[in-house]
Amino acid sequence: MTTIGILGAGQVGSTLARASIAAGYDVVIANSRGPETLRGLVDELGPRARAASPAEAAAAADFAVTAFPYAPDVLPPVEALAGKVVIDNNNYMAWRDGSWPEIESGRTTIHELRQQQLPTSKIVKAFTHVQFHARSPIRVPDDRLPALIRLARPAGHPERKALAVSSNHPEAVELVTRFYDDLGFDAVDNSPLSESWRSAPGTPMWRHHVDGQSREELIRNLRRAERPVG
Ligand SMILES: NC(=O)c1ccc[n+]([C@@H]2O[C@H](COP(=O)([O-])OP(=O)(O)OC[C@H]3O[C@@H](n4cnc5c(N)ncnc54)[C@H](OP(=O)(O)O)[C@@H]3O)[C@@H](O)[C@H]2O)c1
Repeated sequence: MTTIGILGAGQVGSTLARASIAAGYDVVIANSRGPETLRGLVDELGPRARAASPAEAAAAADFAVTAFPYAPDVLPPVEALAGKVVIDNNNYMAWRDGSWPEIESGRTTIHELRQQQLPTSKIVKAFTHVQFHARSPIRVPDDRLPALIRLARPAGHPERKALAVSSNHPEAVELVTRFYDDLGFDAVDNSPLSESWRSAPGTPMWRHHVDGQSREELIRNLRRAERPVG
């Protein structure tokens, strides 16, 4: 059985936990305030989930997810994540994170900074461009579902959507490709991490985060991205 350590229990962490458990994974989930604050969520998730501190969730994980914003002074558990694949689904949002010239000029990406923060882990950017909340506006009852769940389709389905994955570590790309497949999505490899600006907020592919895009559309949209210059 594969255990995912999910660090962050907000929209992303809780939705990813639900989808992962439905796909057969075990989950250890953490937030910043402590496991006792996650009792209601864990009760709802059922016996395949438990709450823990970030360090305990990282230690229990076969692979982990950082489902909270990057900040230089907010360090994930470096030791407990050493040697592990860590999915970074954070988006750089200047309105929330402040304006960072090294990212806006295209000199680096937020995910390379996460890799520097966790130098002994295998950082992989994934899930940054799919909504973890209800669609707005709601057109049909299914729109109340987060896009991660609403858009999922089995392999080979004509409406199957694709998500991008970027990493400096091929084994991390392979792991996310399998994980995407288990959750109902194809993968398009946009490695290495230095290329991950192609899937940043505002890019052509990112504008499909509400209703998704096919593999062919995603490949085309990644190519159409224009590198920020500064
Ligand atoms: N929401 C989306 O649809 C979406 C889509 C793609 C990407 N993203 C990205 O995903 C990230 C999370 O988004 P969200 O919408 O889930 O945010 P959110 O609802 O605000 O949840 C953030 C969670 O992270 C926890 N947290 C904060 N610092 C932590 C730390 N050091 N260790 C462990 N947990 C920590 C918070 O715990 P406390 O409440 O206890 O502080 C909270 O549970 C963001 O970076 C966002 O850019 C979001």
